[in-house]
Amino acid sequence: MELLTRKKKDSGSQLIAIDRKNKQGSEQFRAIRSNLNFFSVNKNLKTLAVSSPSSGDGKTMTASNLAIVFRQEGKEVLLVDTDLRKPSIHQTFDVPNNYGLSHHLLGEMKVEDIITTSYLTSVDIITSGLIPPNPSEMLSSPQMTEFIETVKEMYDIVIFDTPPILVVTDATIVANKCDGALLVVRHKKNELSQVERARDQLKNADAHLIGAVFNGPKVPKEAYYY
Ligand SMILES: Nc1ncnc2c1ncn2[C@@H]1O[C@H](COP(=O)(O)OP(=O)(O)OP(=O)(O)O)[C@@H](O)[C@H]1O
Ligand SMILES: [Mg+2]
Repeated sequence: MELLTRKKKDSGSQLIAIDRKNKQGSEQFRAIRSNLNFFSVNKNLKTLAVSSPSSGDGKTMTASNLAIVFRQEGKEVLLVDTDLRKPSIHQTFDVPNNYGLSHHLLGEMKVEDIITTSYLTSVDIITSGLIPPNPSEMLSSPQMTEFIETVKEMYDIVIFDTPPILVVTDATIVANKCDGALLVVRHKKNELSQVERARDQLKNADAHLIGAVFNGPKVPKEAYYY
């Protein structure tokens, strides 16, 4: 489990990992990266779903910064917005969302044609595309499974941003198709019972929960270093 902190000043930008003024924030994401790399030594971790119990816990912020620190390490990284209800990766990275995952799943566009590279971070991104009326059906389709297999071949690591676990089934559907799932827990917001329910739903969906990111509290310097 890792602790994340953000300074109030940074609230305008979610991209902590490229914020030179927030060294502690970047360092914390690099620590999470190291833990995931350790984990990957024994079990090949190429696809990772990032989720949380409820809305606003920090899923998008965590998925985005993890993608950046993996890219900074020299990996080929793809970040996919599978929040087809309230997508926000395009806003976080300031890229257009004229086309994206939904267009590919509908058979309208090839994978290569829906990838955008973020000029800020050089992370490859697939935005949500048009918001469909049936996100759960689209995410549980054979086309989605095939899509994941395709991008897995193209990249070293693929990170999926998802909707909240306790609100809709989409996150568990995506997590079930990934090598691992990471649960973001927001300090002073998520109740223990919510976290346990989210964990159980991932388990019931046969998803592989590999860890949790504790998002929020300020960490004293001493505690952080030791
Ligand atoms: N540790 C933190 N300190 C301060 N602000 C934070 C922290 N983590 C996230 N935020 C802010 O909280 C808001 C919600 O974060 P984010 O969009 O990442 O959550 P989410 O879980 O993806 O939400 P949703 O379920 O709506 O997609 C954002 O404005 C983000 O900048
Ligand atoms: Mg989000």
